[in-house]
Amino acid sequence: MTSSMPAAEAVGGGRSARTRIGVGLIGFGWLGQAHSRSVARMPTLFADRVFDAELVICADTVPARIDEAVSDFGYAEAVADWRRVVEHPSVDVVFITAPNMLHLELIEAAAAAGKDIFCEKPVGGTPEQTRRAAALARDAGVITGVGYNYRWAPLVRYARQLIADGTLGEITNYRGRFFSMYGSDPLNPLSWRYLLDQAGHGVSTDLLSHSVDLAHMLLGPITRVVGTTHTFIPERPVIPGGTHYARGSADDPRAPVTNEDYAGMLCEFAGGARGTFEASRTIVGPESQMAFEVYGTKGALSWNLERLNELQVYLVEDALHTGYRTVFGGDRFPYHGSFVPGSANGIGFEDLVVIEDLEFLRSVAERRPHSPSFDDALAFVDVQAALLRSVESRSWEDV
Ligand SMILES: NC(=O)c1ccc[n+]([C@@H]2O[C@H](COP(=O)([O-])OP(=O)(O)OC[C@H]3O[C@@H](n4cnc5c(N)ncnc54)[C@H](O)[C@@H]3O)[C@@H](O)[C@H]2O)c1
Repeated sequence: MTSSMPAAEAVGGGRSARTRIGVGLIGFGWLGQAHSRSVARMPTLFADRVFDAELVICADTVPARIDEAVSDFGYAEAVADWRRVVEHPSVDVVFITAPNMLHLELIEAAAAAGKDIFCEKPVGGTPEQTRRAAALARDAGVITGVGYNYRWAPLVRYARQLIADGTLGEITNYRGRFFSMYGSDPLNPLSWRYLLDQAGHGVSTDLLSHSVDLAHMLLGPITRVVGTTHTFIPERPVIPGGTHYARGSADDPRAPVTNEDYAGMLCEFAGGARGTFEASRTIVGPESQMAFEVYGTKGALSWNLERLNELQVYLVEDALHTGYRTVFGGDRFPYHGSFVPGSANGIGFEDLVVIEDLEFLRSVAERRPHSPSFDDALAFVDVQAALLRSVESRSWEDV
């Protein structure tokens, strides 16, 4: 749907009239299923939404997933050829949840068909692909969204408020990390994530993108970086159809990992703060530490996905040396109460996907630019490109 076209047809009547949005989705794996569940759950969670989203058509190359999309998730149709999704007349929005190196081709086709596009992060597998995708969407005038779901965690948004209103004083230091164990087992099979031709870059694309995106939202742009990357597990078992969380055996044939397991960088922010970032998929210990720490002249805070419903806050005004206090998530923070009432009754990973889809589809229904958009994806890849240059030059690089 281009911005010059009327918003999708309104259903219902009077004050309760909602915009109908037809959803097509490409790639019915982990995140494809999460977004599909999210669309299906929305009516039960957000009675005040301004749209009604309909699961029209889904594409995947795995036959069992095609069947499941219709029988269990409620898609009207599911197919093997993704072109049918992009061309479908009842589809207003295309969700792209296929492996990274397919993103650009799918975006090009969806933009040419005038569909609004939600693409999972990082939007392509290389900085060059992200730049091309952003230009295509801009030229087509379609609304874009990116799956930087951690932006929507209610306590992350509260952290942003504490930084923006000056509660922490002048920000001096930032630490971002995404330490995941998903690839720590050398028998974890050689899925698309480990291959340059299917994923693009490794953790600098897969995990660091989330960390840097959150820093951009919380502190603003990064201007200079110096960094390093490494591949700790150079080959893995090859299992046809082996997924992200499967396990091979010592007898399986092996093939090389062709992108990086680790990325680390030191950086300077435009606002003057200094920061460090690390991302690893082979580290042992942290299960899924998508985490950040912010330090200012009047206080500090830290958040960790492993404890999604807790924010640690330190305020100098409390009286020095009394330590961090724990702020629990609860229905006094935006969105939380739609999932569960009260305080410290937690929400989860997929609830963040629901919130991001709600806000994206609201932007589509109201025909206004969305954030995070492909421009935010671009802001990340500019940092990533500087990191990759720094790895080559072994020196600081401007973003
Ligand atoms: N935001 C997040 O927290 C988050 C988490 C995980 C993955 N992701 C992103 O989501 C995307 C998908 O990752 P995933 O973990 O869901 O992968 P996945 O491997 O679980 O799913 C990918 C799906 O795409 C399908 N596919 C492959 N080629 C296809 C084609 N030509 N046409 C149609 N379908 C095709 C596969 O069969 C599979 O079902 C990636 O871009 C990834 O970076 C985001």
